[in-house]
Amino acid sequence: MDTDLVYAICQLNDIPSQRAVGLQLVRVGQDGAEIAWPIVIVRWGRQVFGYENRCPHHGVNLDWERNQFLDPNGIRLMCGKHGAQFELGTGRCMDGPCKGESLTPVPLVVLDGDICVVGVQLAEDAEDEEFDAPATCDEEA
Ligand code: FES
Repeated sequence: MDTDLVYAICQLNDIPSQRAVGLQLVRVGQDGAEIAWPIVIVRWGRQVFGYENRCPHHGVNLDWERNQFLDPNGIRLMCGKHGAQFELGTGRCMDGPCKGESLTPVPLVVLDGDICVVGVQLAEDAEDEEFDAPATCDEEA
């Protein structure tokens, strides 16, 4: 992982604590091709956890209703298709048809109040631009 690659994608305060939001990112593959990269970010206090928005069971997005990622108790990520439930901190499936499998983690850090993806080249180079929070973050604020 190239830790020199750091992209601010959202502000920490755009996501209320104990909530999850989805972002539609685009990363650059090794051949230079742009690849749609939907992710989900969970905020828990000062901590953030990121995963690819892709259920290990059938490979679909977890949120069958937009930005509905959490189980009814709000303590696990849940896939809306068959109800698999995933631990927030590890992405491991604790209950459901893919029990024992895991979501694919997305490496995140919080720098100066921004949530940043580390080690993945995104298609839009944010270094030279003013940071704009993605629309999905604004909608949840
Ligand atoms: S597709 Fe997610 S639980 Fe089946």
